[in-house]
Amino acid sequence: MYNTRIAGVGKFVPEKVVTNHDLEKMMDTSDEWIRERTGIEERHWLRRGEETSSTMGAKAAKIAIEKAGITPEDIDFIIFATLSPDYFFPGNGVLLQRHLGITNKEVGALDIRNQCSGFIYGLEVADQFIKTGKYKNILLVGAEFHSGGLDISTRGRGLSVLFGDGAGAVVLQPVEDNNKGVLTTHIHSDGTNAEILSATIPGMHGGYYAEDDSIFGFDDSTEHPFVLLTQKMMDDNMIFPYMDGQAVFKTAVRKFPEVIIEGLKTAGLTTKDVKLVIPHQANLRISQFVQKILRLTDDQMFNNIQKYGNTTAASIPIALSEVLEQGLLEDGDVLVLAAFGSGFTWGSAVIRW
Ligand code: COA
Repeated sequence: MYNTRIAGVGKFVPEKVVTNHDLEKMMDTSDEWIRERTGIEERHWLRRGEETSSTMGAKAAKIAIEKAGITPEDIDFIIFATLSPDYFFPGNGVLLQRHLGITNKEVGALDIRNQCSGFIYGLEVADQFIKTGKYKNILLVGAEFHSGGLDISTRGRGLSVLFGDGAGAVVLQPVEDNNKGVLTTHIHSDGTNAEILSATIPGMHGGYYAEDDSIFGFDDSTEHPFVLLTQKMMDDNMIFPYMDGQAVFKTAVRKFPEVIIEGLKTAGLTTKDVKLVIPHQANLRISQFVQKILRLTDDQMFNNIQKYGNTTAASIPIALSEVLEQGLLEDGDVLVLAAFGSGFTWGSAVIRW
């Protein structure tokens, strides 16, 4: 059995920076409110028609591939995590393959829809394929085009100030040393309150979850109502994501520490052995809570949400890319990745660099 090592990392963020002061001009909010509650100072948002999650993913992927010292032709499996894909279907994995010009390879392309935990879910899946020797170069990408789907009026301020666009990618390869690379991964989910953080419209639920489906404006005159998107959904601005922020916050500060400790225990390590934790960048206050609960030092906790906001599936690989740019990891260091988000889904990975 092999272990999985991260052989190359890349990131891409759009050029346009949107500061909290810029948001003040779009909605009733303030730099002070956003900084105090979330730690975010600015985020990158795409200009119209500039990129998509798949094209940003391809840009990050090209860097990761180059850093790994391979070519796109060497990739033998693609995993793409996003909640903001270009199309309802097909998935971003095949689009990424096309952007990289490797359609002649006929490799598998898998899409992961686990939102903020997407990267960890993708890593666990990739790890199984690498362990068994099935694949030698897996490309794992997390990318999000959030800004195109946010309500940037005052009505949507509780959610829209949090999210940014961007992409991160890693190339995963086998390593024979079983004390190197990914030591453990753990992934979990609990769908009890799946809609607490969700974008349910457009969708194929057809009113299934609603006591009164007339709120969606379905056409009752036919046996086969058009369920994906109705005019009423558009008119009532139901197409934007929904979040119960406090419920998410309370669950996140429990699940992050739980799953980090679970990973460390399995690997036979403690928090003292950890060089760095890269938490999914959901909210600086969540990360600070987690740091306090786990009694980690400032140097052990990496945060860059201040510059990027929450980039969901992209946040961990973007952060990892910056960690490496800043030279914060050395051979043999223990790195912990952890995520929590919509679903709820959560997970962790313990890695020896
Ligand atoms: N600017 C100014 N005021 C805002 C605002 C904004 N962008 N967004 C909401 N408010 C207002 C609310 O309307 C509310 O006003 P009211 O008291 O007059 O009703 C007030 O601020 C408090 O809102 P509330 O939602 O209770 O704030 P909060 O302290 O829970 O902070 C979050 C909101 C979203 C920052 C916080 O709940 C959070 O971070 N949750 C986790 C979110 C997250 O991480 N999601 C991704 C998971 S991967």
